[in-house]
Amino acid sequence: MPNHIYIDKKIAPFNKIIQVGSDKSLSIRAVLLASQAVGTSKISNLLESEDVLNTLKAIKKLGINYKKKKNCYWIYGFGLNGFNPKKNTVINAGNSGTLGRLILSLLIKTNKKIKLIGDKSLSKRDFSRVIKPLKLFGANIKSIKNSLPVNIQGTEFIRPINYVENIGSAQIKTACCFAALNAPGKTYIRAKKSRNHTELLFKYLKIPIKVKSIRNFDLIEVRGLQEFNAFNYSIPGDISSSAFFIVLTLLSKNSAITIRNVNINQSRLGIINILRMMNCKITFKNKRIYKGEKSADIYVKSSKILKPINCPSSLNSSAIDEFLLIFLLAGTKTNGISTFKELGELNKKESPRLNIAIKFLRMIGIRVKRNKNDIKIYGKPNLYLKKKYHIKNFLKDHRVFMMSCVAALTLGGNWKINDKDSINTSFPKFLNILKLLGANIKWKNEKILLLSQ
Ligand code: S3P
Repeated sequence: MPNHIYIDKKIAPFNKIIQVGSDKSLSIRAVLLASQAVGTSKISNLLESEDVLNTLKAIKKLGINYKKKKNCYWIYGFGLNGFNPKKNTVINAGNSGTLGRLILSLLIKTNKKIKLIGDKSLSKRDFSRVIKPLKLFGANIKSIKNSLPVNIQGTEFIRPINYVENIGSAQIKTACCFAALNAPGKTYIRAKKSRNHTELLFKYLKIPIKVKSIRNFDLIEVRGLQEFNAFNYSIPGDISSSAFFIVLTLLSKNSAITIRNVNINQSRLGIINILRMMNCKITFKNKRIYKGEKSADIYVKSSKILKPINCPSSLNSSAIDEFLLIFLLAGTKTNGISTFKELGELNKKESPRLNIAIKFLRMIGIRVKRNKNDIKIYGKPNLYLKKKYHIKNFLKDHRVFMMSCVAALTLGGNWKINDKDSINTSFPKFLNILKLLGANIKWKNEKILLLSQ
């Protein structure tokens, strides 16, 4: 089956209610925490994407059993440090930075040698950001050039740490919190604000955690070696997956969409806050709180020309996975210059997204000026594309694929977009939902099928 798609028609006006895939960050955290809980946890609406399935495979290799019944995963935990892997176990984190970095933090005391590997994209990513704090905990961890493969051999001699996380990375913060579970005494983390799902889950599970907010930082205290009980958890929809449909709607004519049951944790709402600053009307309906996490139905409709934005860098972390879409909107729907600053972290994702976004915008005729990690985008509203475009997506980045589909369906032109299968990383139903909205997307095989009928 070819792994590219063709789009040569704009999407027709739509007005639909949809549900996107469950939240990936919460899915991975719920599985990993269930693997450390005492007893059987039940997780419903788990996202069944490759990153999460690789998380389930990883805990299984580490000796934790699970079963799937109907829409629920039952995970049988043995408590803290309850992993019991075979000798020389290899864990494959696939494409997932979150899984790769978080699983290492749970292995610092596991009494076997474990090797962590990943796919081509993950093997290019930096692991020093977690290796450094984990070594301070006392972890016996080795890697050549601070990237995968990483070898870890657990040790009994773990101590609590005092750590400053000033990138604004939830993965680093969570790795410290997870490692602190196995450290005696109190671990202190001064973390630049980032998504706080881990802190909320710890609170819900009654793991001793204190969080104090001081300006753009959180002071976190975790008391280790405290067992916690198995739990039930139902995962809400993913705001990062919703973002593709929000921007698709904003860029389409006479359309509207309701996205049901989406997690609206403030630390993930950068995209919404930025779009509102650009004058978009986005409404939350049926707001509710579930086990510390907020969710709602999101309603959005097509918009007129938007205001350019001078984006405060304090919003970077809460919109970190959505910038490809934000840039697309700033480039094609505003009549002015938008500025974005300190975006170096974007180049450390599944692919170098800052470089790719700039190339992409220039390819469709948008002027972009770059100064190191700051960019200026010169908006060109009412853009109408007529040329042929081919998105090669060398590192098979799921978000590059999906953003390209949104552009192709709203701006015109003839598009060939590679690496359709990359959506399995985070949002396997992405193309199905697009089709439900009426998008005309062709696979080569479908064309052949039609011709031979
Ligand atoms: C994630 C944190 C973010 C984000 C990633 C998921 C998480 O990474 O980009 O997709 O679940 O903690 P960083 O924390 O490294 O910025």
